Amino acid sequence: MPPRGSWGFPPAAEENRGAPGYDATMSRGSIGLSDELNAYLVAVGAREPEVLARLREETAVMPEARMQIAVEQGALLSMLVKLLGARRVLEVGTFTGYSSTAMALALPPDGRIVCCDVSQEFTDVARRTWAAAGVEDRVELRLAPALETLDALLAADGAGSFDLAFIDADKTNYGGYVEGALLLVRPGGLIAIDNVLWSGRVIDPEETDADTQAIRDLNADLATDERVDIVMVPIADGLTLLRVR
Ligand SMILES: C[S@@+](CC[C@H](N)C(=O)[O-])C[C@H]1O[C@@H](n2cnc3c(N)ncnc32)[C@H](O)[C@@H]1O
Repeated sequence: MPPRGSWGFPPAAEENRGAPGYDATMSRGSIGLSDELNAYLVAVGAREPEVLARLREETAVMPEARMQIAVEQGALLSMLVKLLGARRVLEVGTFTGYSSTAMALALPPDGRIVCCDVSQEFTDVARRTWAAAGVEDRVELRLAPALETLDALLAADGAGSFDLAFIDADKTNYGGYVEGALLLVRPGGLIAIDNVLWSGRVIDPEETDADTQAIRDLNADLATDERVDIVMVPIADGLTLLRVR
């Protein structure tokens, strides 16, 4: 198995003790919120479909469970798909299918989401979830390194062929995924990038591992990138929203 971070794991809270922004009560919910406040936020501020609640339970017993997005993040992605009137969505990093199902459910019946992952095992769970949610005909899974899939999509469908891209895979390739998404997403479309706060490690100078450095470098580059409008949202492990100019 590749090193932990290269699959897209956020650093575990217990490994993160003492890091800036670390909170002993931090859960897999939104960074900086106590478990109690996060539970309140989820209870009154997100409507999780039953199929996603079941997927969360199924994924919770897996060693890689921390890779799954938070409930409130699924609700936000769903809201963004609807607000954009998105018909074509790209996902980089599918795992067991939480984010893809949340977005597919928000698409119109003729909408499409292309999901990129390298794991047959994880995406077998996702396939079952898409079927259970009744959205399997909206989803196209590409099992290959995502950089290759992005190149293939650009060659086949052309620039500006997607309304929204969600990036949530191996962190050292984030820069490449964003460059690919900047070509594939139309002007006025949206790119959402997960784990941009990386459990607070981005501001700890002692954290110099490749994943942390990749996220830190990307955040710094995007802060002044004239090709996009930007807002970094402190939801879950940090979510950057880029509106393509
Ligand atoms: C953080 S998880 C994605 C979580 C998912 N968005 C969800 O809602 O549960 C990261 C995923 O990226 C995949 N991945 C890792 N390296 C990849 C690569 N080079 N190309 C495509 N997918 C990759 C892993 O197999 C894993 O399923």
